[in-house]
This record gives sequence, structure tokens and C-alpha cells, in this order.
Amino acid sequence: MEMLLFVSNNIVSRCVIGRKADEEEENIGKSNKYGELLRRLEEQLAAFYDLSGLIGRLNATARALDALLDQVIEEHINKVLSESDDVDDQSDKKDFVDILLHLWKNSMLGAELSQDNLEAIILDMFLGGTDTTETTLEWAMAELVKNPTSMKTVQEEIRSVAKGKLNIDMKDIEKMDSLKCVLKETLRLHPPAPLLVPREIAQCVKRRDMFLNNPVDCQGQDFQFIPFGAGRRGCPGMSFGLAAVEYVIANLLHCFDWKLPLGEVEENLGMTEVNGLTVHKKLPLYLVPALDVSRKMSIVVMF
Ligand code: HEM
Repeated sequence: MEMLLFVSNNIVSRCVIGRKADEEEENIGKSNKYGELLRRLEEQLAAFYDLSGLIGRLNATARALDALLDQVIEEHINKVLSESDDVDDQSDKKDFVDILLHLWKNSMLGAELSQDNLEAIILDMFLGGTDTTETTLEWAMAELVKNPTSMKTVQEEIRSVAKGKLNIDMKDIEKMDSLKCVLKETLRLHPPAPLLVPREIAQCVKRRDMFLNNPVDCQGQDFQFIPFGAGRRGCPGMSFGLAAVEYVIANLLHCFDWKLPLGEVEENLGMTEVNGLTVHKKLPLYLVPALDVSRKMSIVVMF
């Protein structure tokens, strides 16, 4: 679970501000503190039921985050002011803040962009993107370990599409129908933000393979299934979130077989939910990656 949170945080962070939230050991300092502060803010925002001393702690976290975001924004402004005006210029990969600032610099935003606006938007991306991605990954892996037949099907599909490649790319993922079904089923069973779009099912549904050959999608057009909400206030990070989750699961299942720790049985996996801004698994998922001998050989050859 910790690794899934780590990777989710870093994916969002690299896309939004152009660097990882938690840098490697040698860079510990500013960026590491940043990932830590974001986690603390998420926890404190979710703890609205316990107000004792919370406001003070929340303010302290917000002030510390403000200071770090000021720095991030200043670095980006300096960079953008010294660059060409072409928003589509791909010579240097742009992150989300670069693009926003380019649009602002060329008066293409159609609105003013204050420092406060910019900070709020960056925080929105982190708060909206990190936990939702992590919790979807965690539930998907838990459901797959709980359902070995589905795990086998999706893993065989991934490995046959990837055909021994080291890196799976987005074009490969487009061919992975079972993987997409597993993710839809995960989002149906465990929508990460149900408080925002509360619904109750009208009738029981048969579980297995319900999304195979079924045109119902989760992207806000089919109102019986809207894990990302729908309409103008629907999730703006939907495509990004889906791509991130598909990419991480495909790579995890491509490289490793996943097992419960020795001595643990499936019943101990625990599928109880715990409430918060996002609905987490109460018992954090703890899995062991394993390589069988033939996979070991092919991975050695790939390297
Ligand atoms: C599996 C991943 C994700 C799920 C299930 C999810 C789900 C949701 C839901 C249900 C909403 C509320 C929609 C409504 O009120 O109708 C929402 C809003 C939002 N999401 Fe996501 N989200 C995911 C990933 C992301 C990512 C990756 C980002 C950004 C990097 C993001 C940013 C946001 C923002 C900023 C809002 C607030 C939009 C507004 O109120 O105008 N989300 N998300």
C-alpha cells in the first residue's frame, strides 16, 4: 500500500510540478518534506469529525505548504519567462504549471491568475489525484489476489500483449480488454470518492465479467456507472487517472506474480472499507512480489 501511494504521489507530482514528491535519499530536504506535508494535509482534511486542536494543526500544515508552493511557483515563473512563447513547444517537456503559466503569459487563459489561484489549483491536483489513484490501485490488486482466475486471465493478456518488452506503453494498454474490465469492476465495487456522487444500486448484479462485451463505460456518459462523476463538475483528471492506474497495474502484473505473505490466507486479506475523503481499504494491502524461474530468465535477457 505504501509503494502504491508513493508511486501515485510521484506520478501526479511529476506531471503537475515537474518533479517527484519524494526524491531519493541524497536529495532529502525540500521535496521530501513536500510529499510529507501533502500526506499530512490529506489526513487532516479528512478528519473533520475530530475538531479538537485540528484547526491549529491544519493551519500550520497549510502555512508550511504555502511556503513550499511559493518556491515551486517562483522557479516555474523564472523558467517560463525565459522560454519561447509556444505552448506546444515539445523541445523541453512541460509540466502542468509550465503550461498554465505559458497560457497566462500569452493572455490565453481568459482570466487573471493570482498566486493564490495558482497555489489552489496545484493543491487541487494533488488532493484530487493522489489518494484516488492509490486507492483504486490498492483495491484492484486486492480484488485480483482474491480472485486468482481473474488474476491469471488479466496477467496472461498483459504478458501476451507485451511479449517480453521491458516497458509497456500506452499503445499496448489499448489492447488489454481484460485489464480495462478489471479496473471498471474495481471502480464499480470500490468507487474512491462515493461521497461526491452518492448512488445506490437498484438491483443485484451478477459479478463476473460484467463489463466484457458491455458498452457501459465509466467516463460520465452512462449514468448507471459514474465513479468520476459526470457533467461540468465531473472529474477533470479522469483520463489522467485511468491512464495512470492502467499503466501501473499493467507493469506490476507484467513483471511479477503477486502473493500474500507466507502463512497468510485469503480470508485475512480483509476487504473492509474505511471512510475518509476517499474510501480506503481498512487493512493496508501487503503483498509479496514473486518471479518464477522462466520470468526471471526473460527479465534478465531484457536487461
Ligand atoms: C481513479 C482516479 C480518480 C477517481 C475515481 C476520481 C473521482 C472523482 C470524483 C467522483 C470527483 C467529483 C465529481 C463530481 O462532483 O461530480 C472528482 C473531482 C475532481 N478530481 Fe478526480 N478522480 C480521480 C483522479 C483524479 C486525478 C488524477 C486528478 C488530477 C490530477 C483529479 C482531480 C480532480 C479535481 C480537481 C476534482 C474537482 C473538480 C471540481 O469540483 O470542479 N482526479 N474526482
